[in-house]
Amino acid sequence: MTDISFDGRVAIVTGAGGGIGRTYALDLARRGAQVVVNDLGGSVDGTGGEHTAAQKVVDEITAAGGEAVPNYDSVSTPEGGESIVKTAVDAFGKVDIVVNNAGILRDKSFLKMEWSDLDAVLDVHLKGAFYVSRPAFAVMKEHNYGRFVFTASNATFGNFGQTNYGAAKAGLIGLSNVLAVEGARAGILSNVIMPVAFTRMTEELLGDFGKVLTAESITPMVTYLCSEANTTTHGAFSAAGGRYAKVFTGLAPGWFAGAGADVTAEDIAAHYDEITAEEGYIVPQSTQDEIMALAGLFS
Ligand SMILES: NC(=O)c1ccc[n+]([C@@H]2O[C@H](COP(=O)([O-])OP(=O)(O)OC[C@H]3O[C@@H](n4cnc5c(N)ncnc54)[C@H](O)[C@@H]3O)[C@@H](O)[C@H]2O)c1
Repeated sequence: MTDISFDGRVAIVTGAGGGIGRTYALDLARRGAQVVVNDLGGSVDGTGGEHTAAQKVVDEITAAGGEAVPNYDSVSTPEGGESIVKTAVDAFGKVDIVVNNAGILRDKSFLKMEWSDLDAVLDVHLKGAFYVSRPAFAVMKEHNYGRFVFTASNATFGNFGQTNYGAAKAGLIGLSNVLAVEGARAGILSNVIMPVAFTRMTEELLGDFGKVLTAESITPMVTYLCSEANTTTHGAFSAAGGRYAKVFTGLAPGWFAGAGADVTAEDIAAHYDEITAEEGYIVPQSTQDEIMALAGLFS
C-alpha cells in the first residue's frame, strides 16, 4: 500500500483545538493537507471561549513544516458555519474534507435536563454539523470531490443521562447517510466515526482504563476515511484503543403476513420470534434498498 497523502487537499477540522480533533488536524497536515483548525476554545459544557486552543495547534502544525490557519467561530450558528468554510476558501481556495468533530456535554437524567441543555447540545453537535457541512458541500460539488466525517458516539446505543447527546449523535448518522446518497454523483463520500478515547470529555467516565484509549488511536481511521484511498460511503465505524469496527443498522427479514392481510396485535404476538429474529439481515444503503426488498415480497 502506498502512503496516504493529502497533498493538494484542503481540510476543515472542527473542535480541533484539543482532544481527538487536534490529532486529526496534526495527522492530516503532516500528510500534506492544508488545514483549517477550528475551535471556539470553550469548556466541556460549551461555556467560555478563547482563541489560544486553535492557535496552539496551528503553531504545532507550522512548526512541523505544515500549513494551517486558525478559525475561532462557533459551529453552532449558520454564520459560524459559513465563516469556517470561508476561512478555508480564502486561505486555500477550496474545501475537500470536513471532519465534524466539535462537541460539548450537558449530561443530565431525562427529567432533570433543562431545555437549555437540549438546545446547547443539539446546536453544537447536530445543527453545527449542518451549518459547516452545507456551505462545504456546495464548494465540494463544484470540484466533484469531497470527504465528510461526522462524529457520533456509542451513546446512540444508550447511555444514562445522555438523551440530548444520544439524540444529537443519532441525528448525525441520519445526516451522514443522506449526504452519502446526495453526494454520490459528485464524488462526495460521507462516513461516521464513533470514537472512544480518553480526553477531558471522558476522563471521569473512563477512569484509569481510559488511559489506554488514546486520542491518537482514533486518528488512522479518520485519516483513512478522509483520503482518496477510501471508497466507502454511508459507513459508520467504532474506533477505540486500536480496535476498529464497522457499526451498522441491519434490516432483518422479519415476518410477512401476506399482501393485504388483516393483521391484528395478536398476530404480532404470535409471530414475535420471527419479527425479532436477526438472521439474514441486510444493511440498507438507502431507502430504496428497503423498498426493493419489500417489492420482492409483493411480486
Ligand atoms: N472522547 C470520547 O470518548 C468520545 C466518545 C464519543 C464521541 N466523542 C465525540 O468526539 C468529539 C471530540 O471530543 P473530545 O473527546 O476530543 O472532547 P474535547 O472536549 O477535548 O474536544 C471537543 C472540542 O470541541 C470544541 N468545541 C466545543 N464547542 C464548539 C463550538 N461550538 N464550535 C467550535 N468548537 C467547539 C471544544 O473547544 C473542544 O476543543 C466530540 O464530538 C465528542 O462528542 C468523543
